Amino acid sequence: MSTVVTGIGELVTHDERFTGDLGVVTDAAVVVEDGRVAWTGPARHAPAADRVIDLAGRAVIPGFVDSHTHLVFAGDRAEEFEARMAGRPYDGGGIASTVAATRAATDDQLRANLVRLVAEMRWQGTTTIEVKSGYGLAVADEVRSLRLAGEVTDEVTYLGAHVVPPEHRGRERDYLDLVTGEMLAACAPHARWVDVFCEPASATAFDGDAAREVLLAGQRAGLGLRVHANQLGAGPGVRLAVELGAASADHCTHLSDADVDALAAGTTVATLLPTIEFSTRSPYPDARRLLAAGAVVALATDCNPGSGFSSSMPLAIALAVREMRMTTAEALRAATLGGAQALRRDDVGHLRVGACADLTVLDAPSYRHLAYRPGVPLARALDLS
Ligand code: NIG
Ligand code: FE
Repeated sequence: MSTVVTGIGELVTHDERFTGDLGVVTDAAVVVEDGRVAWTGPARHAPAADRVIDLAGRAVIPGFVDSHTHLVFAGDRAEEFEARMAGRPYDGGGIASTVAATRAATDDQLRANLVRLVAEMRWQGTTTIEVKSGYGLAVADEVRSLRLAGEVTDEVTYLGAHVVPPEHRGRERDYLDLVTGEMLAACAPHARWVDVFCEPASATAFDGDAAREVLLAGQRAGLGLRVHANQLGAGPGVRLAVELGAASADHCTHLSDADVDALAAGTTVATLLPTIEFSTRSPYPDARRLLAAGAVVALATDCNPGSGFSSSMPLAIALAVREMRMTTAEALRAATLGGAQALRRDDVGHLRVGACADLTVLDAPSYRHLAYRPGVPLARALDLS
């Protein structure tokens, strides 16, 4: 069955056939056939279709691509957040409490929380989601997290190297052997990506040498690479990610000139997560410096119960504009095409002919309202079923 979505006041396509860097068409229509974009252009030229959906002047953008989330967990850390707002710094130490709650939860409890969060994301316009493990940190618990993640997305990431769990403290070498050995072997069939929290500034995360081991082992097991890099302080994570050809270096909050140069010269996307700086009351990454150097920038939520429990890509966009001085067009591009590139996907994040028909409707006349009207629930994924 074909559908023509018409009455679109402003359509963002990222298609070079149309004007500006966002490929905008005004008074537009999109024809969808078999789940794919079959035609885009001015509504008055739209071909006929079996069904008509009239959006009465609303804007349509490509669905957001949230390329970094931690949605498989139990419990919450609202008290840790309150303590942070009262002045306690974030150091990743609270991850252990989520690990304990996650291990204690049943499959159905974890699934219910995951499904609720994915629905919450769709209500805010997100149509592609990456989901990491990392709150199991034992073989069976990591496999279970990845299996559950695989029920909601293909973009599943093995993050056994999130932190060294409490029972391995003092025996970090053993944990590294487990993460790169038995745990990897059990997890690789359920994942597309491997990730590591490379953060020498954290007592429980991994330094550059350990991160390299994790990434190389994951690569040998056939996984693509992603890195939590330079979140809490300067470190080797970003340059390691670029050197090994990782798809994405995430956080990028504390960057040296050499880090920026490496990102600009390499194929690794710089994924910025401003809801984390918001929720940890930390300085924001320097997006302008990355963009000026020519790095590809993505925006994602990093939705997790600790450092930032927001599932909202529109909030990430508003913060990128207000706090990081990106233009709204740059922020929207980073939240769609940038996220797709961070997942090495060319079928999502844009609305060129042939793309997945992931249309997000804004209850507003223009994409500019995403930053202009912060906190207002304007974006929603269009249900074409
Ligand atoms: O991306 N940095 C490490 N992992 C998460 C935080 C996880 C947590 O605090 O539970 C992050 O910020
Ligand atoms: Fe994260």
